[in-house]
Amino acid sequence: MNPAAPSQPVQTGAAATPAPATPAAPAHAAPAPTPAPAPLIELRGVSKVYGQGQTAFLALKGVDLQIAAGEFVAIMGPSGSGKSTAMNLLGCLDTASAGEYRFRGVPLQGLQRDELALLRRQYFGFVFQGFYLLARTTALENVELPLVYRGLPAKQRHAAARAALAAVGLSPWEHHTPAELSGGQQQRVAIARAIVTEPQVLLADEPTGNLDSQRGHEIMALIQGLSRERGLTVLMVTHEPDIAAYASRLVRFVDGRVASDQPNPNPVVPAPAPAPAGAV
Ligand SMILES: Nc1ncnc2c1ncn2[C@@H]1O[C@H](COP(=O)(O)OP(=O)(O)O)[C@@H](O)[C@H]1O
Ligand SMILES: [Mg+2]
Repeated sequence: MNPAAPSQPVQTGAAATPAPATPAAPAHAAPAPTPAPAPLIELRGVSKVYGQGQTAFLALKGVDLQIAAGEFVAIMGPSGSGKSTAMNLLGCLDTASAGEYRFRGVPLQGLQRDELALLRRQYFGFVFQGFYLLARTTALENVELPLVYRGLPAKQRHAAARAALAAVGLSPWEHHTPAELSGGQQQRVAIARAIVTEPQVLLADEPTGNLDSQRGHEIMALIQGLSRERGLTVLMVTHEPDIAAYASRLVRFVDGRVASDQPNPNPVVPAPAPAPAGAV
């Protein structure tokens, strides 16, 4: 997989292979203390202005936020408090008006649109309230789409898309179109499409907003499982406390600011033995 190629490359952590003639570095007598790893995501004093002049609106007012790899964060707050704006910035769908966004320790200010797009495709998966699947297109083809954009050969695309659909419990439904699937199943297809590229971060904006309570909880069990089993970092907007209760941290926005930021020491753990996938 090619790393994203912004002008200042995001580190992959893999050191270049040393030249064969290079002697090994001398071993230190005592190992240096390991520095604390940079947070995966760091916002410092981030503001966002929409419009200009008389109609300018300050949607984010100096947001500071640090998120470590593997965290599952629920973002709550009243309508209009800046949750979606923050998600759009975090997912490189938009840029801040002021302040700093560091991803994997690398500042993203000043990157060009196409560089941000590369970063987005490499590291982020998105799930929205409306599922945004292509109609008249099978679940398998919908999930394959991000890999088509990556130029992956058909055989590898099929294999990866099948694996992603299996991970969301939809193997029997591969060849069904969205119209033939329930809302919960459609959101599962959208989640499979979001994870098929093996992103590091899943951004979910009200992923259960269009679902009944039972399907909503099933989707949360799935998302929590992906976070725990794959170390996927999840940032999820919701206005429902019983949905936010699956996350391990709760950030509340009010009026464009982070009003509170607390760990959730006891996230909901769904009961095992789910219904068979086809029954969802
Ligand atoms: N593209 C835009 N142009 C102008 N104002 C916007 C735009 N997007 C959002 N806003 C405004 O910014 C504020 C925050 O919006 P948003 O981030 O969507 O809030 P939330 O997701 O918390 O409901 C709202 O007052 C909204 O009307
Ligand atoms: Mg919103």
